[in-house]
Amino acid sequence: MSNRQVVIAIDGYSSCGKSTFAKAIAKKLGYAYIDSGAMYRATTLYGLQNGAFDAEGTLNSTKLIQALPQITITFKFNNEKSRNETYLNGTCVEDEIRTIAIADKVSRVAEIAEVREQMVLLQQQMGQEKGIVMDGRDIGTVVFPDAEFKIFMTADPAIRAQRRYDELKAKGETVDIKEVEENIRKRDYIDENREVSPLRKADDALVLDNSHITVEQQMKWVEEHLNRILEK
Ligand code: CDP
Repeated sequence: MSNRQVVIAIDGYSSCGKSTFAKAIAKKLGYAYIDSGAMYRATTLYGLQNGAFDAEGTLNSTKLIQALPQITITFKFNNEKSRNETYLNGTCVEDEIRTIAIADKVSRVAEIAEVREQMVLLQQQMGQEKGIVMDGRDIGTVVFPDAEFKIFMTADPAIRAQRRYDELKAKGETVDIKEVEENIRKRDYIDENREVSPLRKADDALVLDNSHITVEQQMKWVEEHLNRILEK
């Protein structure tokens, strides 16, 4: 494989394994992995902790927009746990942002144009050096429209719900599969229908439906395409 460094943009629906896949590719290539969804999740957590949601859980977007200058998001690799962790204003929030409580609210936060502007800028700064894999909803369309390799991931909604349910359960969270299914359905809808940079496949992205393929088959698929792209 050539040593040319590229940008790999992975977009797609909720819970179809984008981040696991992105991490595996980054590890294989020695690239940096950036989880753009974690930034929207951390912003949601900040909103919850600082009164941007009312008692019924409705978002006051004006409050959140006003709070944006107070939000700093960074990532740090934890050697002990061997994982990349998300920091909100200097505090590790990696576990808190993965809960269903955050998943329930994040797509409302991600609809706000001012939030997206701040996150996209940060993502572009983090990706200035090539040799990165970033996953999200608008990476191939908005954040890195010139990415050399764009992947659009999808999977059957019932399979996605089962995967996320297993993941949350393994972490010790008590959840109902129906609740997970409903959350995925709702987020897909909001993400695809929002006004600002909705989830959609970039024209030049390759579609990967991983409903019925193994992790190994998925890696093989990516390697074949990467070889072709890197040889160009
Ligand atoms: O891992 P999962 O598929 O559940 O979602 P995520 O990547 O952690 O993203 C959480 C939410 O953030 C999504 O449902 C979107 O509403 C939003 N998001 C976005 O709007 N744009 C991105 N680039 C990444 C995430």
